[in-house]
Amino acid sequence: MRAHVITYGCQMNEYDTLTIHSELVAGGHEIVDAPQDAELILLNTCAVRGKPVEKVVSLLGDLRKERRRGRDLTLALMGCLAQLDEGQAIARKFDVDLVIGPGAITDLVPALDAVERRRSDAHASAPGGVERLHFRDDLVDHITPPPPAGTQTGFLTIMRGCDHHCTYCIVPTTRGPEVSRPLEAIMHEARAMHDSGVQEVVLLGQNVNSYGLHDPTLPSFAELLRLVARVGIPRVKFTTSHPMNFTSDVIDAIAGEPNVCTYIHLPVQSGSDRVLRRMAREYRRERYLEIVREIRAKVPDVVLSTDIIVGFPGETEDDFQRTVDLFDEVRFEHAYMFIYSARPGTPAHTHFDDMPREVKTERLGRLIERQKHWALEANRRWIGREVRVLVKERAKDGHYVAGHSDQNHTVLVPADQVRRLGLHRVRVDHATPHTLYGGVLGEREGAVELRLAS
Ligand code: SAH
Ligand code: SF4
Ligand code: F3S
Repeated sequence: MRAHVITYGCQMNEYDTLTIHSELVAGGHEIVDAPQDAELILLNTCAVRGKPVEKVVSLLGDLRKERRRGRDLTLALMGCLAQLDEGQAIARKFDVDLVIGPGAITDLVPALDAVERRRSDAHASAPGGVERLHFRDDLVDHITPPPPAGTQTGFLTIMRGCDHHCTYCIVPTTRGPEVSRPLEAIMHEARAMHDSGVQEVVLLGQNVNSYGLHDPTLPSFAELLRLVARVGIPRVKFTTSHPMNFTSDVIDAIAGEPNVCTYIHLPVQSGSDRVLRRMAREYRRERYLEIVREIRAKVPDVVLSTDIIVGFPGETEDDFQRTVDLFDEVRFEHAYMFIYSARPGTPAHTHFDDMPREVKTERLGRLIERQKHWALEANRRWIGREVRVLVKERAKDGHYVAGHSDQNHTVLVPADQVRRLGLHRVRVDHATPHTLYGGVLGEREGAVELRLAS
């Protein structure tokens, strides 16, 4: 079949989409770029908040209309939503043919065959689709093919699942318990990326710092980071870190390996111990600040970002103020700030009452303003300095090309100064809260030969 995958959610899902592609191709299917050319549409979904779920429902509504107008289309619901009762109910409502959880991607091709058999067997045309919802062990061994030549960023999943039980979060239900991938699979994939010219690799996991914790034969995350760094890919990033396992050896590895990005995403969720307790986050504010102090002392020019949930059930104005003054203390260069979204099946949804939307929105607005202030302050300090930028694409207005610095700043440089994608030396001359602007000083040796699409 001609197949098209639509991806929602986090980078883990983007990586899973690569695995879905390779499974489909191995099974004799063809990947097409345009959804209108496809006979099979697969939705690789996210369920972390209400919004991504609404997007899927709205797309399924459109696709149902097309089917009713006579388009012959097979539909698969995959990703995190597929694993939930909520997703399975949606699948039934929209006559989705195939429901495959994120732990069962390697079942996709046989399940597609099962859908075909059902269709051709008139007697077995029972209502409902084919479901595969178990967590398959072989998925962690899975090796995705090296990215095509010219790809600059390679995603590399090092672990799957999550053993934490943050009370707001649906991910442990959708992704199952933590499993670390075998070291050989990771190293094989990293070397293949290096050989195909990938300029930056992003190590992925719900909590990358838990890598190897449950298996004494595996290295720790800090050791793994060093091993991957030494493969020679110019830049190594990783996400997401959990403060609980963010130990000194991880900080030392970041400080000690020159190609590990000096950007650390360390979700704190709230600045109030009372809220952290209700969220079942295993650290408290002071421990978080201790980690931040150690990072700032050992990693010069480090850029810190975080995730925040605003308006968690029971968050008082005082609690919220604790988050605001945590921002004043840490001065995060970047933050992903979310309004609490009650997810059916999570302890917070079962046990706590949501608060009025206006209160949450108003608090979010105030926090965004605060964060902008610190981000601008931090970005201004880069004016006049040189950064190394991986130029990736033409920016929206066409006059600039966009890339990321080693500290993960978004950096824009005039398009007429750049002849190829790849790593460049850039002097920063202007800063806004979200972006640095600068001029190219030179290309780094070995910048990949690629013409910019106009
Ligand atoms: N494993 C990662 C993050 C996974 S989800 C970690 O623990 O850091 C990404 C972010 O989504 C979380 O950090 C949290 O800030 C946010 N999030 C998760 N569930 C949410 C919910 N129910 N409502 C709002 N934001 C949520
Ligand atoms: Fe969700 Fe918490 Fe696990 Fe992150 S650590 S995925 S927020 S349960
Ligand atoms: Fe969403 Fe699943 Fe990622 S819920 S954020 S796609 S782990």
